[in-house]
Amino acid sequence: MADNTAILKVRDKEIELPILSGTAGNDVIDVRSLGANGYFTYDPGFMATGSCESSITYIDGAKGILLHRGYSIEELARNSDYIEVVYMLLHDKTPNKQEYKDFKDTITRHTLVHDQLNNFFRGFRRDAHPMAMLCGSVGAMSSFYHDDLNIHDPEQRLRSAYRLVAKMPTLVAMCYKYNVGQPFVYPKNELSYAENFLNMMFSVPAEDYKISPAVAKAVDRIFILHADHEQNASTSTVRLAGSSGANPYACIAAGVASLWGPAHGGANEACLNMLEEIGTVERIPEFIAKAKDKDDPFRLMGFGHRVYKNFDPRATVMRESCHEVLAELNIDDPLLNVAMELERIALSDPYFAEKKLFPNVDFYSGIVLKAIGIPTNMFTCIFALARTVGWVSHWHEMLSQPGQKIGRPRQLYTGEAQRPYNKLDK
Ligand code: SDX
Repeated sequence: MADNTAILKVRDKEIELPILSGTAGNDVIDVRSLGANGYFTYDPGFMATGSCESSITYIDGAKGILLHRGYSIEELARNSDYIEVVYMLLHDKTPNKQEYKDFKDTITRHTLVHDQLNNFFRGFRRDAHPMAMLCGSVGAMSSFYHDDLNIHDPEQRLRSAYRLVAKMPTLVAMCYKYNVGQPFVYPKNELSYAENFLNMMFSVPAEDYKISPAVAKAVDRIFILHADHEQNASTSTVRLAGSSGANPYACIAAGVASLWGPAHGGANEACLNMLEEIGTVERIPEFIAKAKDKDDPFRLMGFGHRVYKNFDPRATVMRESCHEVLAELNIDDPLLNVAMELERIALSDPYFAEKKLFPNVDFYSGIVLKAIGIPTNMFTCIFALARTVGWVSHWHEMLSQPGQKIGRPRQLYTGEAQRPYNKLDK
């Protein structure tokens, strides 16, 4: 039997299934012909299912490897900047000097949002969760661009992608300003992407905001570390929404909604709330016991991962950033002491080693964001801001693939067999 063919022996049938190999990672068994043979595969949570072919990001969960277009996340986070990573994710190549300058200018000139969007915020309660406002305002953007968008034209897809990457910092900062009752701050074209975001977040009409280069560098690194992550829940949501031909702004709003969950992007906010609830190093054992208690739904937020089973390479770089920022800003945050002790205990506890539970990217990002003055309820918005490039890159790649079809999973039906309906004598 050829080594690129699997034989599925099932009851009275032998079904030949092609085995497909990629550049790296698991080979895949192409099961598309199973339906015609009367079977479906069954994989709730899709942990053994390849939903698509992609050349954007590669993860090796066992070895803690994360590559974007073949470049390791460690090298990108230490030597690149977010705009260059955005270019590379969208264009499958690193830009030369001129391409980088032109691209940076293009993104900069799309940072302004339509002024009518300001009115959308007026409908929210002042204390609305920023992710609720972000979800709503990103979806609302589709009402400004739906008529001039042919999603089958690669140039128009890229223009939408640039608009979304450029406008997310403006929208995220607007969510914060609306929460704190301060006026919205317009982008400034002379600032870098991270500087612009910090300025829109923290400057006020009464005085200019002094941007700390160390903080801007830390924010840019946080954006890089959250840029893309293969077929995670929110990216898969964007792909499925986009597969129907939906407007990209509506698809990204769906991604924002999916990311909000505490099991996914909401973990950084939940992790900081957990550290604040633990409060002191002395109380850590109480929470470790809760995490181990099968009858207790409590989970250590910022620990564990669906794919990484030894360590999250982003957490390694984020941990460095965390210490750099706190040293630079001369902050001795008691929460960091709790976080460090929690990490030490968890990593030395056989339970966590056996369950492959270790700090993930969200464990440290929350501490860095808090150190630079970002309120906890804004953390997931910043994750969404950074992940927008991943979402639009996968959306663009999916629509550029020949034969792209609407996604339509099937199921194992365990409901009632057909039965007669007895009309109610009302
Ligand atoms: C992100 O997919 C992505 O790539 C996501 C992401 C991205 O960039 O897009 O990386 C971003 O979402 C990171 C993950 C952030 N989430 C959290 O930090 C929330 C806390 N972590 C968990 O809820 C959990 O670890 C998940 C959701 C991340 C993974 O859940 P799984 O798949 O159920 O974990 P598992 O199968 O590896 O669990 C093994 C065991 C289970 O116990 P048993 O059933 O075997 O007895 O470990 C337990 C789990 O109950 N467990 C935990 C735990 N995570 C798993 N126990 C305590 N605390 C935890 N955090």
